[in-house]
Amino acid sequence: MRGMAALLTDHEITERVLSHIANRTTDVGDALWREPVEHYRSAQRLEAEMERVLRRSYAAFCPSVALPDPGSFIAREAAGRPILVVRDQDGVVRAFHNVCRHRGMRIAQDSGCANAFVCPYHGWTYELNGRLRHVPHAEGFPGLDRSQHGLAPLPVIERHGLVFVSQAQAPAPADFAGLPELVSQGQQLYATSARETQANWKIVLEGFLEGYHIRATHPESFFPYGFDNLNVIEQIGPHSRVTFPFRRIEKLAAVPPAQRRVLGFVTFVYHIFPNALITVLSNHTVLLVLEPLGVDRTNVVAYSLTNGDGDPAEALEAATRDAHFAESGASEDRAVVSAIQQGIAGGANESFVFGRFESAIVHFHRTLDAALAQ
Ligand code: FES
Ligand SMILES: [Fe+2]
Repeated sequence: MRGMAALLTDHEITERVLSHIANRTTDVGDALWREPVEHYRSAQRLEAEMERVLRRSYAAFCPSVALPDPGSFIAREAAGRPILVVRDQDGVVRAFHNVCRHRGMRIAQDSGCANAFVCPYHGWTYELNGRLRHVPHAEGFPGLDRSQHGLAPLPVIERHGLVFVSQAQAPAPADFAGLPELVSQGQQLYATSARETQANWKIVLEGFLEGYHIRATHPESFFPYGFDNLNVIEQIGPHSRVTFPFRRIEKLAAVPPAQRRVLGFVTFVYHIFPNALITVLSNHTVLLVLEPLGVDRTNVVAYSLTNGDGDPAEALEAATRDAHFAESGASEDRAVVSAIQQGIAGGANESFVFGRFESAIVHFHRTLDAALAQ
């Protein structure tokens, strides 16, 4: 693995994979990494990760297409705090603490499209830009300055087809250099879900970032279509991309280089630092946001999207088929990560060791340590 200014082209990915197949090799990193197991069970460590990294960073929140119209909003917890993201009348995405400025109730739930947000407790009403528009029985608040009681705003950036939110007054600088368009306007959001997994958020993340476990963990789901321990691994600033080829990529050897397109021949997994993953399969793409609920519990929020912009009904049907295939392997991964978490308390390992095939995980831990030290 090497740091790169730009991602490999489809042709370069194909060449690298075909060479690995011929030589029985895979991309390798420069060194082993030992991560103290204490970092997966310590409440203080998790609090430091939440406060100094997950809340300070611009963390991926949702795909842009999840907020299609003025008034489209999503309310959910991010890094343990209730957050509201909404597209304003002028088309600009805004983010706020989802907390009423009267006595702190949540003003929005789930997702939808609204002209204004009415607090369900006493009815204080806020515009999409956060301004406090209406206070019922306002005579009870003599001298109240409404301009001082708008929703508390948060820094937000819309880039590469995603919405990124920071919860800090002084966010860590966003580093998007080298990232491609991750979700395009033509992709339909067809499902949103949240599932609690019984493992530390970093254990969930690590399971996506290497192909060394494909044969052992996925003997009947992924392995028959893919390879064991054969990946292309690229660093993109603090982020990374791991390419998992399908066996059918060997057909591209006969395709002229300029015409090679790898969609359908590989799965891309993007890790968007700190806590998001984007998996791009043949016919669907999923944004996963890993929200820690405790040292050993993670809410995995998933936004599922069709690929491409052809006939919407066909795209949706292809996506559903694809997702069914992916789920067979995903359930195997969930069983692994919760088993790891159960074993952590016993103290068998003082550290976990990540090998040269697991270099995207090493990159994550190096980047996390650097962010914690800031
Ligand atoms: S807490 Fe929102 S109106 Fe009272
Ligand atoms: Fe897996």
